[in-house]
Amino acid sequence: MAKPYVFVTRKISEESVELLKNSFEVKVWEEDRVVPREILLEEAKKADGLLIMLTDKIDSELINQAENLKAISTMAVGYDNIDLQSATEKGIIVTNTPGVLSEATADLTFGLLMTTARRISEANRYVLEGKWTKWSPMLMAGQDIYGATIGIIGMGRIGEAVAKRATGFDMKILYHNRNRRPEVEKKLNAEYRSLDELLKESDFIVLLTPLTPETTNLIGKREFELMKSSAVFINVSRGATVDEEALYDALINKKIWAAGLDVFRQEPVPIDHPLLQLENVVAIPHIGSASIKTRKNMAIMAVNNLIDALIKKESPNIVNI
Ligand code: DGY
Repeated sequence: MAKPYVFVTRKISEESVELLKNSFEVKVWEEDRVVPREILLEEAKKADGLLIMLTDKIDSELINQAENLKAISTMAVGYDNIDLQSATEKGIIVTNTPGVLSEATADLTFGLLMTTARRISEANRYVLEGKWTKWSPMLMAGQDIYGATIGIIGMGRIGEAVAKRATGFDMKILYHNRNRRPEVEKKLNAEYRSLDELLKESDFIVLLTPLTPETTNLIGKREFELMKSSAVFINVSRGATVDEEALYDALINKKIWAAGLDVFRQEPVPIDHPLLQLENVVAIPHIGSASIKTRKNMAIMAVNNLIDALIKKESPNIVNI
């Protein structure tokens, strides 16, 4: 009997591809760019399993044509790029890679928070552009992190790991989440707040929620107006959780102090995007979980999820069905 066919949409570690090859016929898209839509559609028609990235759009058009498809394994924790309802209707198992990337993503989140608060990117540009001709008392003066109040929106695994880092800076930790997390409140001395209370009280607002219909445009004009004029806004969730025009207006009109953004509505963000023209924006290219070890671990987990889903019809990381 022919082995099931698996298509992998980006080059992943050899070790993880070898693992797949033990059970399946495998094809990997070797080019370092997103698979063109027509190729993805063709491959999906033939495939029993897809191993995809957050940049691949798995919509109802693709799912309805993919007659053999039984499992989709995404190498990410977020799966807003997959039409979950269509996949579920077709009995296709969808898996993600939670947990394995929490610490790396929390490191990046805290790094982005520090970079934005203490103007590290701006200061680096200042030196490289030859502008450092004198020292002065308020040169590149930023916001204090130690002892400040951090408000975490989305207290899942990554939120908890960010809160843990914040305790090292003696920060007051506030959070907002769909459900209260009494164990986190106890362990990390975190206090639950309504969204509006959190926005009003926090010096740092860190957005970590998954993108769902409820969180789309969660932070817009009204929400920025509730924030302190000294607030630093950090987004490591998905671009569509924020109204970018409202963010731009809030920054230009000094309603908030600065923003650190790992995610954008359109990725890669166009170089002429208004937010990129502002000195008080730190923009990075969706690298939340991008440490070498973590990316390798994510690939292995995504592979194991696909093997489990195709062979055993189960996996610890199924997000539907
Ligand atoms: C994810 O896995 O969803 C993250 O956005 C990756 O950085």
